[in-house]
Amino acid sequence: MWLLAVSVPLLPAIVMASRRYHVKLSRLCHRALGWVLRLLRGGVCVRSTHAFVFSNCTHGKVDSVLETFDLYAQTHPSLSIGPEIGEALDAVVKRVRPSRVLELGTHCGYSSVRLLRLLPPVGRLITVEMDPLTAELGEEIILVSGFKHNQFQVLTSSSAEAIPALPSLLEPDVSEGFSLVLMDHDPLLYLADLQALEREQLLCRSGCSVVLIDRKRRAGGLTEILDHVRARLESCCVRTELPFIVEIFYHEC
Ligand SMILES: C[S@@+](CC[C@H](N)C(=O)[O-])C[C@H]1O[C@@H](n2cnc3c(N)ncnc32)[C@H](O)[C@@H]1O
Ligand SMILES: *[C@@H]1O[C@H](CO)[C@@H](O)[C@H](O)[C@H]1NC(C)=O
Repeated sequence: MWLLAVSVPLLPAIVMASRRYHVKLSRLCHRALGWVLRLLRGGVCVRSTHAFVFSNCTHGKVDSVLETFDLYAQTHPSLSIGPEIGEALDAVVKRVRPSRVLELGTHCGYSSVRLLRLLPPVGRLITVEMDPLTAELGEEIILVSGFKHNQFQVLTSSSAEAIPALPSLLEPDVSEGFSLVLMDHDPLLYLADLQALEREQLLCRSGCSVVLIDRKRRAGGLTEILDHVRARLESCCVRTELPFIVEIFYHEC
């Protein structure tokens, strides 16, 4: 009896608490559903990376764009190469001083921007991304960094389809091929794509460094590539071997 007497005055509070809890729970479910839907659409990472960088960086300032990417990666999963691999890549670019660069795997544009900021005024980057939404968002970030369409081109296509089309895109400089290639798309395709680039004679017209990003520490297709290179020492060699980066150099020929 006394329990009833106590709980009657408390009833409104109990109802309110359960309602609030219910609201919280439904909000949580709603959020979880949004997550699952975005995951299913496959855009979760690139959309949120793009939104974060686009709205938090200073437009037109390359360093601010890169710093904002790094800030994002401190609190979110990220596919960008990040500052550590980025610095190793910078060192290669500064040594090679390339004028025509090919990148496979644009993603949100982080490595494209890193590359572009070190190219000479006449330098050009062709970057290949097979996912159309990712290619669009990556291109926007490159433009936001202040680069113009006469400095870079985003190809929305798989690497396998893009490579045979590259010679015509390089005109009128096709006779010189690329001076730097960055592969950061799919390690299982590195060897096939390297061989396709060799077939198109895009690597060793006047010397070329091919940089392979190796996040899995030789677990993917990297060992086969190293075997491939060591069997063809007359035309190429392994120049740098770091934990996350392998650089193969194609001699002048
Ligand atoms: C690891 S992310 C690249 C990160 C980027 N280099 C950076 O540091 O900002 C790999 C990207 O390659 C793309 N990709 C995967 N396989 C590809 C292929 N065969 N051809 C072109 N792009 C591919 C994916 O859609 C993804 O956006
Ligand atoms: C911009 O940065 C702030 C602070 O790091 C973050 O809370 C916000 O979500 C970011 N904006 C977007 C659109 O991601």
